[in-house]
Amino acid sequence: MRTKRRRRKSRRVERLRRLFPDEVEYHRDDDFVVTCPTRLCFVPTPIDAVIRILEHLDPEPGTRVVDLGCGDGRFVAAAAYLYGCRGIGVDVREDVLQVARRKCETLGVEDKTVFIRADVREVDLRGLRPDIVFVYLLPSLLRELSDDLAACDATIVSYTFPIDSLGPPKVLKLDERRRAYVYER
Ligand SMILES: C[S@@+](CC[C@H](N)C(=O)[O-])C[C@H]1O[C@@H](n2cnc3c(N)ncnc32)[C@H](O)[C@@H]1O
Repeated sequence: MRTKRRRRKSRRVERLRRLFPDEVEYHRDDDFVVTCPTRLCFVPTPIDAVIRILEHLDPEPGTRVVDLGCGDGRFVAAAAYLYGCRGIGVDVREDVLQVARRKCETLGVEDKTVFIRADVREVDLRGLRPDIVFVYLLPSLLRELSDDLAACDATIVSYTFPIDSLGPPKVLKLDERRRAYVYER
């Protein structure tokens, strides 16, 4: 039984690897540069890093996962597909949100995921009632969000950049170079 479950999981992991390549940059619509004056580069978290972070968190089905600046939605898609989480992705770029919705349909998790076009600085994070918040954003933007992150009573995971104001993190060493910083609630 356990072997069957393990095989099913590794098939799903392989599917995620195929669907979410590590090197992508979707076209950007310049309109967003005006409405949201940040650097709007979509640089994805490598899918193996996403999988490793989720293995560490080991969320229960139904756990509410929010990715602020979700890009192609890989974190919430993988959480929904591998663990049965409910996912909310927020991004200002409509092009990446469309990709995210399409990929979630391909995986059959569109009923578990929602993608919202918004500036993360204007989102009512507590209102989304997250259990886990994932961020891969520039430090300047993380500083702007740090009060909201501290107030939302969720486990916060920041890929690459620590958020000093949240206290000492658990550091996940994903490989030789890559780190994720986990702030347990
Ligand atoms: C480094 S990428 C990370 C994407 C995804 N979270 C991942 O880990 O693969 C950052 C994303 O945040 C989005 N972003 C940047 N500033 C934003 C803002 N103020 N509001 C909403 N999204 C923003 C960008 O459009 C981009 O898709």
